[in-house]
Amino acid sequence: MKKRIYITRRLPEEAVETLRDHYDVRMWEHEGQSVPREVLLKEAAAAHALWTMLSDTIDREVFETANNLEVVSNLAVGYNNIDLNAAKENGVIVTNTPDVLTETTADLTFGLMMMTARRLGEAERDLRAGEWKSWLPMGYVGMDLYQAKLGIIGMGRIGEAVARRARGFDMDVLYHNRTRRHESESMYGFTYAELDDLLEQSDFVIVLAPLTDETRGMLGAKEFAKMKETSIFINVARGEIIDEQALYEALKAKKIWGAGLDVFTKEPIDLDHPLLKLPNVTTLPHIGSASIRTRLAMMALNREAIENVLEGKEPKNRLT
Ligand code: DGY
Repeated sequence: MKKRIYITRRLPEEAVETLRDHYDVRMWEHEGQSVPREVLLKEAAAAHALWTMLSDTIDREVFETANNLEVVSNLAVGYNNIDLNAAKENGVIVTNTPDVLTETTADLTFGLMMMTARRLGEAERDLRAGEWKSWLPMGYVGMDLYQAKLGIIGMGRIGEAVARRARGFDMDVLYHNRTRRHESESMYGFTYAELDDLLEQSDFVIVLAPLTDETRGMLGAKEFAKMKETSIFINVARGEIIDEQALYEALKAKKIWGAGLDVFTKEPIDLDHPLLKLPNVTTLPHIGSASIRTRLAMMALNREAIENVLEGKEPKNRLT
């Protein structure tokens, strides 16, 4: 009997077709809808491999239900949605998709910075709504990126790719990270700063840290109060790293100038969320890695990892 692979979201056929000859491939087919929990648990119980999305909660209950499970491969570099301890205890290999999304996510980070600083979303919405009546000397004026000071919290691969782009904008880059990146500091000309110094000095503060027990809630009222009134806050990492209510209050009271958010504590964010009521907030629906080439490359990594584990070989990007 063929081993079974369950994919928790509809993927393009080209990403999965080569699996079909050797495996029993099943997929949650409902476009635009997460797999319901009861379906996930039922499918996991019979699956040898789960191909999961960052929005699926793969917790202890899933691992304890899934007696045949050999591998979980997550379509993301982040893996905070998976209980790695439970995976280990149940002898399941977990893999993710690093590297291939680095540059695409750095591009999006820059795009979101630009969109927020230069009020591009607001300007585009107004034009389409017929609000462009005349050219205004101070219409849609925003903040400059060039020669601004950029503070990056979490200097991993994506942080470094953002810092490389910042050089082209003649930006001065500070970073804060758990460990110093001495080699990259001299290679790319960025400077280490303590968190408080970075918050106090930066014109743009970008969060690119992974969500861990250490980073959960690391930026709240105290941290936003340290930022400049002219500064812009960007989050492309995970919503839970910040206190969203505290960010809302800082923005509403104009303690900071604006925010660009690609990620939220609850995704999709509720439409009545206070952050969506503020004009100085730019929002995107978690699209950091969303280019055609990158998403297909991520899927190729998942597919290879699943094939390798099911064939008894060592997969790449192993987390457990
Ligand atoms: C990831 O892969 O973890 C990112 O959030 C994609 O945008």
